[in-house]
Amino acid sequence: MSQFIDDLIERMTLAEKIGQLNLVTPGGFTNTGPVVTEGVEQKICGGLVGGMFGIYGAAALRPLQQMAVEKTRLGIPLLFGLDVIHGHKTVFPLPLALACTWDMALIEKTARIAAVEAAADGLNWVFSPMVDIARDPRWGRIAEGSGEDPFLGAAIARAMVQGYQGDDLALPDTVMACVKHFALYGGAESGRDYNTVDMSRIRMYETYFPPYKAAVDAGVGSVMCAFNEVDGIPATGNKWLMTDVLRGEWGFEGLAVSDYTGINEMSAHGLGDLAAVAALSLRAGTDMDMVGEGYLTTLEKSLEDGRVSLGEIDQACRRVLEAKQKLGLFDDPFRYIDEKRTENILTADSRAFARETAAQSCVLLQNKAGVLPLKTAGTIAVIGPLAADRRNMQGTWSIAGDWQLCASVLDGIKAQCGQNTEILHARGANITNDPVLAQRLNFAGEKVDIDPRPPADMIAEALACAEKADVIVAVVGEAQEMSGEASCRADIGIPEDQRPLLEALAATGKPLVLVVITGRPLVLTWEQAHADAILLMWFGGTEAGHGTADVLFGQHNPSGRLAVTFPYHVGQVPVYYAHKNTGRPYGGDMLDKFKSRYLDIPNEPLWPFGFGLSYTTFDYGTLRLDKTALQGEDDRLQATIAVTNTGPVTGTETVQLYLTDPVASVARAVLDLRGFQKVHLAPGETADVTFSITSAALRFFNADLQHVWEPGEFIIHTGPHVAALKSAAVQWIRD
Ligand code: NOJ
Repeated sequence: MSQFIDDLIERMTLAEKIGQLNLVTPGGFTNTGPVVTEGVEQKICGGLVGGMFGIYGAAALRPLQQMAVEKTRLGIPLLFGLDVIHGHKTVFPLPLALACTWDMALIEKTARIAAVEAAADGLNWVFSPMVDIARDPRWGRIAEGSGEDPFLGAAIARAMVQGYQGDDLALPDTVMACVKHFALYGGAESGRDYNTVDMSRIRMYETYFPPYKAAVDAGVGSVMCAFNEVDGIPATGNKWLMTDVLRGEWGFEGLAVSDYTGINEMSAHGLGDLAAVAALSLRAGTDMDMVGEGYLTTLEKSLEDGRVSLGEIDQACRRVLEAKQKLGLFDDPFRYIDEKRTENILTADSRAFARETAAQSCVLLQNKAGVLPLKTAGTIAVIGPLAADRRNMQGTWSIAGDWQLCASVLDGIKAQCGQNTEILHARGANITNDPVLAQRLNFAGEKVDIDPRPPADMIAEALACAEKADVIVAVVGEAQEMSGEASCRADIGIPEDQRPLLEALAATGKPLVLVVITGRPLVLTWEQAHADAILLMWFGGTEAGHGTADVLFGQHNPSGRLAVTFPYHVGQVPVYYAHKNTGRPYGGDMLDKFKSRYLDIPNEPLWPFGFGLSYTTFDYGTLRLDKTALQGEDDRLQATIAVTNTGPVTGTETVQLYLTDPVASVARAVLDLRGFQKVHLAPGETADVTFSITSAALRFFNADLQHVWEPGEFIIHTGPHVAALKSAAVQWIRD
């Protein structure tokens, strides 16, 4: 590889090298940021572009690749990227929803299908996986990641990289993945997007870094910098982060790209003018400049001024060229551009799989008196602003998805019911009555319309349906653009204009089932008290409506488990299971004043991490350990628990394994996830679930940031979620 690249670099002019560092977006097609690139075609022909993004389709990309290959002096092909985040044209549930499946094979397959479809659409690079740990549901981008836990997040990062890249990046149906946003983007203060991040190095290494590192270990081809600062220096220009940690400690050898105008934005962070921040970024190890053209416009002069070296420019250029070579673009620049391959897109199989993923991602949060599953008989009132909605089913980052192919929940319900069931429908409320908010939510096409009727009239119409029904299914929640980038919310309930409808429906006394559509954990405390059943659907993608109906009618027994904590009150956030004990933990005595607690709300969340109901029930036996005294690095503990399906139908349980290290040289979390297994059990069936635990599970980052384990007592826990664990202690000493 290097000889070919060496020879090429040898022949390149300085302007051509800097051109390779320039990643542009044409706009007009799909805008994903505040500005777009001017004069794209001219720049390509002038050898001033290394890659493009925000445009897809073989027919659209072929002439652009032709320009690069035929019109430039050296004919270097372009990279073509896109935000393929949870599927391309077949849209799968949001990443946060997929995380709730705890099913790595399923998640890998979503990425595989996305890669096949993206590659068939001319793309060779996807800006995914997004693996930012997020513990503040006000942050809209919590939707794009895998939730709050580093162990689960790392497993998902590996699965996605494998799904996109396969074993050979040069195959025409694999694409280069881009793990993002390195690093700590999910730690934004106040849950406000692009906000400051400031955290201890122990927390970085222990909690926020593992999913990025897992992606690097899995061979991810590229890394995208975060917008935020890390230890006071924006990630894009942070040499410690981009070089010492990423390349030095973790051995990453691929391509590092800034986020959208991330280099330019360092000026607003207060790091200097464009020339200064571009030089800082290059020296930090950020190879490609997304949209901002800071490299294009300043590096030549910075080289003259001695602010950057030719070696640094060559190194960044080499990494761009190496990525192109790994993708096989020098052998065939049109490898991914084949108009005939569109037959691989939106196949019957991929849609069937999307339906399965939509069902698997649903989390049943409440089911009083077994109101679910519904029967295909009698009268069902399907109410709510999202009940008949198709435009909002795909969720954020569904650039290539066509909402017109989506089924609504109402469509899904109708498709399941025959002539014995009467389905009534009324909208009942708007997603929001606020025209300014609606306008903001409609920035990329109309997703939210406002029915001009007075709210009371809409509720009256809904009640008329409800009165005739045996059961009410209310489909409520967020519009697509209420979560995702730049979509933060301070009040994370069901949008307030939907509340009067819910109050009126609850007051009927009819069985009330809520289907909740959301990209973030919502505060559903009122809903928990007033609804009989709550089914969390997230944003389910192309087949959301049918997948949800499969769950509602019991075709699919719900098996999703929360990958993120659901707060009791927004004032608790960040609220997450792996918290520290503190010096004054609250023990339940309300009158014990000097404890770490609130006066007005509980410390506990509404629904804990790992939680989710089924249409059956599972019973856990006692936790059995094959030994309670272990010695040395290589010893191994077997922890076994018998799980029995004690209910009426076959179901899938996710058995979780946690660890506590009660005494250590630094304060540890009260619990840390260390394993999980899914078991599928028929009624009455029992399975022994065994976890094999090595000393790797005991390791943590100490005050010197060494990844160590310290001998002593450890507590092993297993169970269905963090608030219902069976525990046993072991002693694990050194040799
Ligand atoms: C900004 C987002 O932060 C990033 O995730 C995305 O990949 C780029 N825009 C490109 O659209």
